[in-house]
Amino acid sequence: MALKYIFISNSEEQTKKIASQLAAYLFPGAVITINGPLGSGKTTFVSGVARGLGITERVISPTFNILKCYFESKPSMFHIDAYRLENRMSELGLEEFIEGEGVTLIEWPDYIITLIPKNHMRIEMETIHKNQRRLTFHSIGSKYDDLLIKLEAANHV
Ligand SMILES: Nc1ncnc2c1ncn2[C@@H]1O[C@H](COP(=O)(O)OP(=O)(O)O)[C@@H](O)[C@H]1O
Ligand SMILES: [Mg+2]
Repeated sequence: MALKYIFISNSEEQTKKIASQLAAYLFPGAVITINGPLGSGKTTFVSGVARGLGITERVISPTFNILKCYFESKPSMFHIDAYRLENRMSELGLEEFIEGEGVTLIEWPDYIITLIPKNHMRIEMETIHKNQRRLTFHSIGSKYDDLLIKLEAANHV
């Protein structure tokens, strides 16, 4: 199946909160892709996931490194920002992380689209206003459908 859940965030903190809620449901090998223009909150979302996983190290944009690994949590967290790759991905070996036992979050996944597994969660981030963002979660595959259902339930008032 494929499900969709839309969440409106009114602050950086709200984006971090829903990300940390998602973290609680993540499983080893989970892959989350995050699309959206610069400043839409992709890295902010990743830092919320890190918080939810119990990572105390500050999450910084890995733009200049492409990949940053956080081994403090179980599962480990891998943060990929493919922006600077612009399709020159070939020999980097990123698939070993994506297919590994950690949780992988990928900003600008379109640049490494051939490395993204069929089943994953995709998040689209859009800026509505200065501090307002629309987050659209799409699940592909039953494990990700479950994630999305739990996330929606946790936010249902
Ligand atoms: N609701 C919100 N959610 C996420 N970030 C927000 C929000 N409102 C304002 N911001 C700000 O937008 C910026 C997002 O930056 P960042 O997460 O690095 O974006 P990206 O990785 O998409 O380029 C930060 O300065 C953050 O404080
Ligand atoms: Mg970023």
